[in-house]
Amino acid sequence: MARTINVGTLISGGGTNLQAIIDSAGGSTNPKIDAKILFTGSDTPGVKGLDRAKKAGIDTFVVDYAGIIQSCKQGIEQGALPPDFDMGDILEKQQLVTHDSSSAVSKNRIEFFLKSRAIAEKKLLDHMLSYKIDLLVLAGFMRVLTPYFIDRLNTVPGQYRIMNIHPALLPSFPGTDGYGDTFRYGCKIGGCTVHFIDYGEDTGPIIGQKAFEIETGDTLDDVKRKGLEKEWELYPACIQKFAESF
Ligand code: GAR
Repeated sequence: MARTINVGTLISGGGTNLQAIIDSAGGSTNPKIDAKILFTGSDTPGVKGLDRAKKAGIDTFVVDYAGIIQSCKQGIEQGALPPDFDMGDILEKQQLVTHDSSSAVSKNRIEFFLKSRAIAEKKLLDHMLSYKIDLLVLAGFMRVLTPYFIDRLNTVPGQYRIMNIHPALLPSFPGTDGYGDTFRYGCKIGGCTVHFIDYGEDTGPIIGQKAFEIETGDTLDDVKRKGLEKEWELYPACIQKFAESF
């Protein structure tokens, strides 16, 4: 057995991965992994995953990303930005969007994106501040994280502390619809990947993967069902791997 690690979780939706982690971590009396979930945060109010967390006695909070981004569209006052926000540093590090230096529109868009996300990310960090976590687990969190947020968790160089699950066999099919992209490409094998978060989108070091066969006649729903079943096994196993190496 490893030392029990303290884990925070972020979700956006139904939270079936969260449920798998709760169940493995001791939602039962017989924990299968050495991890304790301290909180579940969501970028969206009212999602089912929040109910799953509450039912398991886990603290919850919501940072309403859609509302924040909408209000940023009315204009972002300098004072609304986190005091330690450094656009130059973040622009240099981020690998989420490509910057066409010849286009002022592109520059404004990227800066809006990074500023509005940092405002939301600061609110996440404020909620997380009172918990001392060893690992942050993104369990169906459908937002990218910018260097503003990542640098405040990954404080020791080379030590990754944010884990994500992606519904495809990376490096194939990064982005928002891994199973859909796998299915539409006509792949015969699909899969899921758990990886650490770095400054790119779905580019960080891979921790574990599981694959499944896509058979003739399978629908996209079949692919999603097969994939999720693999995810529920893979994610707790990867958290345990982290705990054992911690
Ligand atoms: C899962 O399929 C997960 O891989 C995916 O969202 C789903 C969440 O399901 N995550 C991403 O696409 C992250 N970019 P869940 O809420 O039932 O766990």
